[in-house]
Amino acid sequence: MRTRVTDMFGIELPIFAFSHCRDVVAAVSRAGGMGVLGALYFTPEELETELKWIDDHVDGRPYGVDVVMPASYEGADFATDELVGRLQAMIPEGHRSFVENLLAEHGVPPLSADADAGRVLLGWTDATARPQVEVALRHPIALLANALGPPPADVVELAHSHGVKVAALASTPRHALKQVEVGVDVVVAQGTEAGGHTGEISTMVLIPQVVDAVDVPVLAAGGIGNGRQMAAGLALGAEGVWTGSLWLTVEEADTPEMAKRRILEATSRDTVRSRSWTGKPARLLRNEWTEAWESTDSPGTLPMPLQFMLVSDALRRIGRSDASELATFPAGQIIGLMNQVRSTKDVIFNLMTEYGEALERLDRITED
Ligand SMILES: Cc1cc2nc3c(=O)[nH]c(=O)nc-3n(C[C@H](O)[C@H](O)[C@H](O)COP(=O)(O)O)c2cc1C
Repeated sequence: MRTRVTDMFGIELPIFAFSHCRDVVAAVSRAGGMGVLGALYFTPEELETELKWIDDHVDGRPYGVDVVMPASYEGADFATDELVGRLQAMIPEGHRSFVENLLAEHGVPPLSADADAGRVLLGWTDATARPQVEVALRHPIALLANALGPPPADVVELAHSHGVKVAALASTPRHALKQVEVGVDVVVAQGTEAGGHTGEISTMVLIPQVVDAVDVPVLAAGGIGNGRQMAAGLALGAEGVWTGSLWLTVEEADTPEMAKRRILEATSRDTVRSRSWTGKPARLLRNEWTEAWESTDSPGTLPMPLQFMLVSDALRRIGRSDASELATFPAGQIIGLMNQVRSTKDVIFNLMTEYGEALERLDRITED
């Protein structure tokens, strides 16, 4: 296959795979697509280890790194050394007790005394994502992607000075234009179906608008899980697809077994756009956690990054308990079509086979 993005990155298939799991990233790149590692959960030191591992397992194929530098968040003007303390002080007591009560109702025990200290900010801010960018640029990455708005112009410049292309996720044509203004090379137009932070416009409606608005290549994201959907994304004018949920259940993924099972059983109605994870709307698996934040008892969610700071320990506690009814995580509507565990290579093979069949079917329709 040949599009501007396959030429840009020297890849065989215009299939981009976002994953927090290095094994998936390396497997996708080795199969001819482009794996992109989500840096969010890693400290700079951990990221260094992950990227070194990918370098050793990717057979010289291109791969990317994704960071989260939100265009707006609480505390963006705080000094780095006082960021966590000042943000913690902004979390109301009523919110803390709501979370504690919810955990108590579901019998979730506290963390054991020897549990490692959690990280409440992760890479959710400019201050915590920049060190990740520095680490990433010390590796032979081909792409730096940013979620939640245009990356800062100096970060785009820095990436370019290392010969690294920059992508950013957009959920409206206006976002896409802003990204092109700061020098982004590829726009990922992500529809509301997508897992993770997502806007309101569906992929089917969004892609043609973004393609018409910008002159850089566009990747279609949100609800792409099979070859027919890939063909649709390219038919809408995209030059490749960017996928996320699809990789949560592959053999190589380090997704917890409970989450894998929930995804395999879920229908497309089992996700919801909720602020209960980070404070910005993200599509999550719908369950008693997301429902509780919508209930009449809910104090309402806090703005980014306060919400995640509020709930991060609670989510770790839930993950270590039997209260799987509260365990929420990002997942897109495509999980309704994901019914079996397959290898990454198989998923790519099926995407391509079904893509070819879809094109043949369309050809036949045209000929008849
Ligand atoms: C579990 C999960 C975590 C995600 N985390 C991030 C992230 O940290 N940064 C990012 O740019 N996108 C993130 N996304 C969004 C993906 O990059 C991608 O745009 C989205 O999954 C595409 O839609 P799909 O889920 O329908 O394939 C995440 C998606 C999922 C499912």
